[in-house]
Amino acid sequence: MGVKNILILGGGMIVYDQILPSLYHLQRIGAIGQISICARHTTPLKTLHDSPIIKEAFPNQSFVPFPSLNTPEEEYYPELYKDAIKSLPPRQCVFIALPDHLHYPAIMEALNHEQHVICVKPLVQTYKQLVEIEKISKEKKLFVGVEYHKRFDIRSLLARKHYRDGLFGEFVIGEAKMIEPYYYRHSNFQNWFTYDISDPFTYVGCHYVDLVSFITGLKPVAVSVIGIKKPYSNGNIGYMWSHGRVTYENGGILSVINGLGYPDMGGGSNQQGLEMYFESKNSTSILRHDDQFRGVSYSIKEELTEPRKKFYTINTDYFRLVPWNGPGLKPVGYGYTSIEELVKCVNKIDTIEDEQEQLEELENIDKQGIIATPKNAYYNELINECARLSIQENGKTYFVDYKSKNILKK
Ligand SMILES: NC(=O)c1ccc[n+]([C@@H]2O[C@H](COP(=O)([O-])OP(=O)(O)OC[C@H]3O[C@@H](n4cnc5c(N)ncnc54)[C@H](O)[C@@H]3O)[C@@H](O)[C@H]2O)c1
Repeated sequence: MGVKNILILGGGMIVYDQILPSLYHLQRIGAIGQISICARHTTPLKTLHDSPIIKEAFPNQSFVPFPSLNTPEEEYYPELYKDAIKSLPPRQCVFIALPDHLHYPAIMEALNHEQHVICVKPLVQTYKQLVEIEKISKEKKLFVGVEYHKRFDIRSLLARKHYRDGLFGEFVIGEAKMIEPYYYRHSNFQNWFTYDISDPFTYVGCHYVDLVSFITGLKPVAVSVIGIKKPYSNGNIGYMWSHGRVTYENGGILSVINGLGYPDMGGGSNQQGLEMYFESKNSTSILRHDDQFRGVSYSIKEELTEPRKKFYTINTDYFRLVPWNGPGLKPVGYGYTSIEELVKCVNKIDTIEDEQEQLEELENIDKQGIIATPKNAYYNELINECARLSIQENGKTYFVDYKSKNILKK
């Protein structure tokens, strides 16, 4: 079937920072075909098109914009993504990077038009929606993968192996943290990251809830989340901070703090890390990932990017554009690897002609559990759904009955 054309839905921060540069590189090495991007209006598309760093990294590469770049910026087209999907031949790929509450209708539209799907996390906001997606994707032998990039950090992959090799014992208690920058509060976030739609726990805490399951194989069964609301500059109200306590099926506990509040002048791009304790018969053990200080810091004479500061602790792990033996710059880091692996899955399915064998390949991906799919990572939807209920009830504990897949309140 050859390489796939990819349509990205959404043109915001994650597309700028990770998705478009990764896809441009994959295009440059012949792994994918045409790239198109659909946003609600042209402003984010122009930012992507005119970005000096993207131009430097990928000279002479471009994308097909929906709406076209000469459309007035004040004209909004919230339904245009449907036409963009229709413009694709069957069995290409739609990469969804829309605000959380728009993932479900966009995924269904893509699947109904015979498209493979890659989606940023969280896949959808309810377990019921996930079941529907899983069913239709398997019926049509279409791949659906969720972009949980922390899984592709080498440290996560090693921890998964070592936990499963029995090096640690059994997970008993842990602490995770991801505090995103304060300046997010001035971004497009204020238009959708409001208390009725999302919160820091389901937005970034979910990475660590997923990661503990990815490492240990344990499913989260209960959660209690409390949040702190603050106004954005446009007057909308959002949860800016959250604390969640997640219980896993063996009784292990994870405490997760999250926020949009890492100081703009702080050296890092955010603050994050995970610490896990384990019990064995006559000993305990510990895994600690300090994801803040990676051994490189800069004190420089000219600021790199907004927000302007002169001291940085450099994150060399998630995503960087670096010189390579080729044109422009090349993406490196687990943010790139994650997208490369997802695209490989999409490409692989259609190298298989027989439908039964396609299904077997999709089931292999599910079973392997490295790539998050609706089938193998459904616990994230269940626990996020519980978390959203919990935060709105000021920390009431919700738990999942895995037999019935029902959500129950304690
Ligand atoms: N660490 C991560 O995995 C990570 C990080 C950031 C964001 N995300 C996820 O990515 C998604 C987008 O986040 P972001 O930070 O890029 O948000 P953003 O607010 O910067 O961008 C959202 C984009 O969606 C576009 N959009 C909104 N409605 C649309 C519509 N109807 N049709 C077409 N385009 C539309 C907007 O124009 C904008 O370009 C969210 O689901 C978020 O949770 C994941």
